Amino acid sequence: VTTQERPDLDWRPWARAYAEALSADDVLDPTWQKIFADVPRHVFVPRFWALDQYNSPDVEITGSDPGQRGKWLDAVYSNQALVTQWTPRPWRDRTVRVVTSSASEPGVVATMLDRLDINEHHRVLEIGTGSGYNAALLCARGGDDRVTSIDIDPVLVEDARGKLAEAGFRPRLHVGDGAIELAGGRQYDRIIATCAVARIPSAWITQLAPRGRLVVPLGWGGGLAVLDKVGDTEVTGRIDRAEVRFMWLRRAADEPMPARIAPVMPATAPELTHHGLTDVDPQVLDDTGFRLWLALHRPNLLITQERRNNAVATASVVYDQHERAAAARTAAVAGLWPVTQQGGRPWDSVETAWRSYERTGYPERDRLGLTARADGTQHVWLDEPASPYTWPVPDPAELP
Ligand SMILES: C[S@@+](CC[C@H](N)C(=O)[O-])C[C@H]1O[C@@H](n2cnc3c(N)ncnc32)[C@H](O)[C@@H]1O
Repeated sequence: VTTQERPDLDWRPWARAYAEALSADDVLDPTWQKIFADVPRHVFVPRFWALDQYNSPDVEITGSDPGQRGKWLDAVYSNQALVTQWTPRPWRDRTVRVVTSSASEPGVVATMLDRLDINEHHRVLEIGTGSGYNAALLCARGGDDRVTSIDIDPVLVEDARGKLAEAGFRPRLHVGDGAIELAGGRQYDRIIATCAVARIPSAWITQLAPRGRLVVPLGWGGGLAVLDKVGDTEVTGRIDRAEVRFMWLRRAADEPMPARIAPVMPATAPELTHHGLTDVDPQVLDDTGFRLWLALHRPNLLITQERRNNAVATASVVYDQHERAAAARTAAVAGLWPVTQQGGRPWDSVETAWRSYERTGYPERDRLGLTARADGTQHVWLDEPASPYTWPVPDPAELP
């Protein structure tokens, strides 16, 4: 029986099944599993926008419409990120819908809460209140007075306040830029960011209590950093095995869409297309370890695939605003794959990154780590902070 057939049914069995499914991959301990089953996600997502084939918000699905209630409840209690807010922005010759808030994918929420390693005494700060769902989970674990959450958008915060109260939670909520230190000089044992940054804001390091932990999505390579405070002014730790994708932290609620969110693929000029062969199998781009590795070398390069009939991948594509390369997934002769490059030679960077990835033994994502200091210095390392392999923290925003 689905809610499609019986939309009048109580939400609890759906929440229970949802929590069980999330626990199946061993991410949720029994305490969290109970919390995921008890906190009503549907209260926090009374409506969402379904995505079209280009992943753009399309049709609104709302729980108050009896005809949509089943579809809505099924989506709310499944492992899906749900878009809750978007804003129109001019882009090239059209207007696009840029997502500005969403209820994150529950599996990712669960992974991040697990990595946060919290107990009921910890004071927790969440950056990115959004729908309020994650704040509710945190309150259910530690109690309202242990949880502070901030969002840059006042509309979202007021909305979340109402929904949290409806579900029985009253955390401390703030409106503002979460990358700036909150007034009052409080310290937190745990900080969880639910929007992505390239570099760790110094305010998060100074607001973290001794031995505190920071869990933060990185805007490059789908990284999730799990960093512990050492001393008074430093955080250090590994990048998680899980690959996560979050919207960027904004510096203002109406920040214009950064070009990096929707880079334009350069137009094709056939006479300027470079044709060649590569001995790097395009399938290497399916390897999440290599995707992160490549991001360290070329943080602004996006990766996608060309598909035939929306199914079989025919080429691996890397591109940014200036250049594009497509490498066919079928070899021309044994061990050599055709590549076309336009605007530059981005595939050459893929080859270079692949050689060093091979040399270092195909490092999994968690062989990489990050150290950041409150004075703004930060670097990425392989295996240990003093490794001979280190990189500056890539920042796509700083690239041309
Ligand atoms: C993926 S959503 C958060 C999901 C949320 N934790 C939930 O459970 O629904 C990301 C949120 O980060 C917020 N945000 C973006 N930049 C911010 C900033 N500088 N400070 C605080 N919040 C920010 C956005 O407004 C958006 O609501």
